[in-house]
Amino acid sequence: MPHRYPETHVLYRNLTRQYPLVIKGEGCWLYDSEGRSYLDGCGGAFVACLGHGVSEVVEAMGEQVRRVGYVSGMAFTNEAVEALADELAALTAGDLQHFYFLSSGSDAIEAALKLARQYWVERGKASKQQIVAFAPAYHGNTLLALSLGAREHYKSYFQPWLLEVARIPAPYSYRCPCRGEAAECPRCSGTILEELLLKLGPENVAAFIGEPVGGSSTGAAVPRPDYWRRIREVCDRHEVLWIADEVLVGAGRTGTWSALEPYGVVPDIQVMGKGISGGYAPLAAVAAPRRLVDVLAGGASGLLHAQTYVHSPAMCAAGLAAIRYLRRHRLIARAQAMGTIFQERLQALSALPCVGEVRGRGLLAGIEFVEDKESRAPFLREQRFAERFTASAERAGLMVWPNTGHADGVNGDLVMLAPPFVITEAEIDEIVARFRAALEDVV
Ligand SMILES: Cc1ncc(COP(=O)(O)O)c(C=O)c1O
Repeated sequence: MPHRYPETHVLYRNLTRQYPLVIKGEGCWLYDSEGRSYLDGCGGAFVACLGHGVSEVVEAMGEQVRRVGYVSGMAFTNEAVEALADELAALTAGDLQHFYFLSSGSDAIEAALKLARQYWVERGKASKQQIVAFAPAYHGNTLLALSLGAREHYKSYFQPWLLEVARIPAPYSYRCPCRGEAAECPRCSGTILEELLLKLGPENVAAFIGEPVGGSSTGAAVPRPDYWRRIREVCDRHEVLWIADEVLVGAGRTGTWSALEPYGVVPDIQVMGKGISGGYAPLAAVAAPRRLVDVLAGGASGLLHAQTYVHSPAMCAAGLAAIRYLRRHRLIARAQAMGTIFQERLQALSALPCVGEVRGRGLLAGIEFVEDKESRAPFLREQRFAERFTASAERAGLMVWPNTGHADGVNGDLVMLAPPFVITEAEIDEIVARFRAALEDVV
């Protein structure tokens, strides 16, 4: 039976395509029921960082679930959540030492924003309610998270239900008018945040949220070395909480546990997801310091964001098993070492037609497509370049992650690569070869 709507009972993500049925995964490879294999170049949605089919992780999860699979976080704590919080506290920088676990990145983004808002209300600063975010940006699909995003095509149907969010341009040098070349460019250096805060009145702003390294919205754009230090200073100066969204770029993806690590600064709140469980179960987390959490403890006595699966043993067991596996097999160091090779080999793609820029850090890369390399003019949306490339790559047995609209909100095509940390040099070469073949096919 073909796996397409309405021939089965699944309400598929795309109701007009036929899906291959995946029956097995191993390392960087996926296998479908027709005997086809796929090189998982993007870990699904940037999730499968340990690789597929790791029995050590499955056994550790099974061991917890056999003892107890679920208890409510209202009534009990459990061994998995305690041990997972300890592991994360050891890995996470600065004073981010307390963790709230949820089952999706969107939930965790909402919880982080509520934490920020609740903190200001408890402190008697209720006027602090505005949020500042980047454009382009993506932070999830529940309504508050969707409000933070700057993808109009995701928002248009739901506009009446969304919040107004103030914005600064993301540090995205390839698309900046200065092309990343002006030392004092307000967008590339981060000084633009202070201009906006002064305009809004800092007494009205609760939080600023951004991805430390660009995820799918800016295709792995890496901000300048002093960008986040400046943001830290501005947020401190104006008493605005800085929330780092590490859902996509954290957990070792860019070669360090946190993508902010090379910048040497710590946010007020950090959000994690995707890779922290390697995809073995849904899991996300909000990390916060005592200086914020104590205020909640002295006020409403807890974070006002209850959900059924907060701290649930089965979910936390997956994260615990994944993080212990990551540490035992030194996979972050491996992501850094293989990341250097990965970025070098991918540079060969820059010479191909329609490739505007290849960029990234560690095992996260973005390849931006353009109609004209010199002017950086994007393809018009009608051409559906990213979608056609992605379909062509899938035919070539390579899974990539497409994104559109980043050049001007409508036009712009890029694809992302984010392979599992266990990738080998030979598999990196295979990604490059299949990418090349897929592009030749489309061009
Ligand atoms: C940067 C970022 N934040 C938040 C989210 C939302 O995570 P989830 O899809 O698990 O809800 C995503 C998802 O892609 C993301 O890329």
